Amino acid sequence: MNIAMDGPAGAGKSTIAKRIAKELGIIYVDTGAMYRAMGVFFHRRGIEPQDKEGIGAAVREADVTIRYEEGQQQVYLNGENVTGYLRTEEAGRMASAISVYPAVRRKLVELQQQMAARQDVIMDGRDIGTVVLPQAELKIYLTADSGVRARRRYDELTAKGEICDLEEIQREIEARDYQDMHREESPLKQAKDAVVVDTSDMDIEQVVQAVSRLYQDRRKEKTGIQTE
Ligand code: DC
Repeated sequence: MNIAMDGPAGAGKSTIAKRIAKELGIIYVDTGAMYRAMGVFFHRRGIEPQDKEGIGAAVREADVTIRYEEGQQQVYLNGENVTGYLRTEEAGRMASAISVYPAVRRKLVELQQQMAARQDVIMDGRDIGTVVLPQAELKIYLTADSGVRARRRYDELTAKGEICDLEEIQREIEARDYQDMHREESPLKQAKDAVVVDTSDMDIEQVVQAVSRLYQDRRKEKTGIQTE
């Protein structure tokens, strides 16, 4: 069984997907991290996100691979573990900007499909239910109000001691939503057969329970077996 989880930035996809993966004993694949690694690659080469030709030419030299070390996803870029560079706002912006190019997407989608063919996965991203795993047994569209998402991100950053501005974070989140939803190639959208989970008024435990329940129901429908 594969689970596809899509939704806008900051909806809590990775937190929830990690928990579900652990509960079900399946692999969590964070596809955003792969786009972020590609972003790091172009940035290091000094290629601007607007430089379509430069990106098209250089993408062939970017080798992104995923390994699991102590159960954690590690992203390698041309043999170097770049996982530690990926979670910054800057890497997120860059990832969103370079993810518009078909050449970049083709390369990563192929890798993602190979991973899902080899093992049961919960994969999160923007186009998982629509493009990468259209046959996934369960598709979740995880979303939340942009004000709530901004507040969560703000709390997370201030807890780490970072100084930040709530309104600016909300503007950035909305700009990224816009870019991800309006690009030509595989825009973020809800798959027709996805279940929407709006987490605006839910805490993590409630979301994990809701998604687990959906999974159990789907599994029961498919196999007649109840797993609790
Ligand atoms: O999920 P994230 O914030 O780590 O993703 C970073 C960016 O990568 C996101 O703004 C758009 C792009 N992305 C994508 O286009 N398709 C995916 N499946 C995952 C991420």
